[in-house]
Amino acid sequence: MEIQFVKLSTTHEIKPFDCEDSDLNEFLLVDAKLYQSQFLAVTYMGETSDRTVFFFSLLNDKISVKDLESGNQWKKRFKDLMPEGKRFTSYPAIKIGRFGTDKHFKGQGFGTLAMNAIKGKFIENASTGARYLTVDAYKNSVPFYEKNGFMFLTNQDKEEDTRQMYFDLMNFI
Ligand SMILES: CC(C)(COP(=O)(O)OP(=O)(O)OC[C@H]1O[C@@H](n2cnc3c(N)ncnc32)[C@H](O)[C@@H]1OP(=O)(O)O)[C@@H](O)C(=O)NCCC(=O)NCCS
Repeated sequence: MEIQFVKLSTTHEIKPFDCEDSDLNEFLLVDAKLYQSQFLAVTYMGETSDRTVFFFSLLNDKISVKDLESGNQWKKRFKDLMPEGKRFTSYPAIKIGRFGTDKHFKGQGFGTLAMNAIKGKFIENASTGARYLTVDAYKNSVPFYEKNGFMFLTNQDKEEDTRQMYFDLMNFI
């Protein structure tokens, strides 16, 4: 099975896709081109000749120091990772705005393949500084992100439907 890696363009014919989440399906099939043309998010897909296997949408983000919980390990964890003596009020990041694998292809490593493509893209081919990947992870996808090295940004969203998570790209080198 040959899978082509494609960056969405407004003329691209998006192939059928169903990741069993209607919001994500609708984003890819209805909204993604608009987000692309309005510079709000850039979407990439893996596809066979007749189906979209996975897709993800990326946009710029930042992790603000003021948003990190004070008086605990978070602020220190980020500060300790930075070059000696350098102070930051925020850290540049890339947000994974949407991410899904088609139901016929789940559990076969395609999500991890896509995630490694994202990590590699911002290390080998960086056109802008981005130290972290961020995601608002759906609760049921948290184990997937943990398996891919993501950590929780805060404990304050423990009871929420989504959890803020991040990945330090230095860990991928
Ligand atoms: C989350 C998702 C993208 C994972 O894609 P995938 O192609 O199935 O992922 P992989 O096959 O690379 O899985 C990697 C590992 O994560 C695990 N995993 C994947 N999804 C999981 C889930 N929902 N719950 C628990 N573990 C999961 C796999 O079992 C696998 O573990 P292993 O390495 O021990 O075998 C896919 O399940 C999906 O599209 N879910 C619905 C939409 C969604 O929640 N998207 C995330 C939005 S933030």
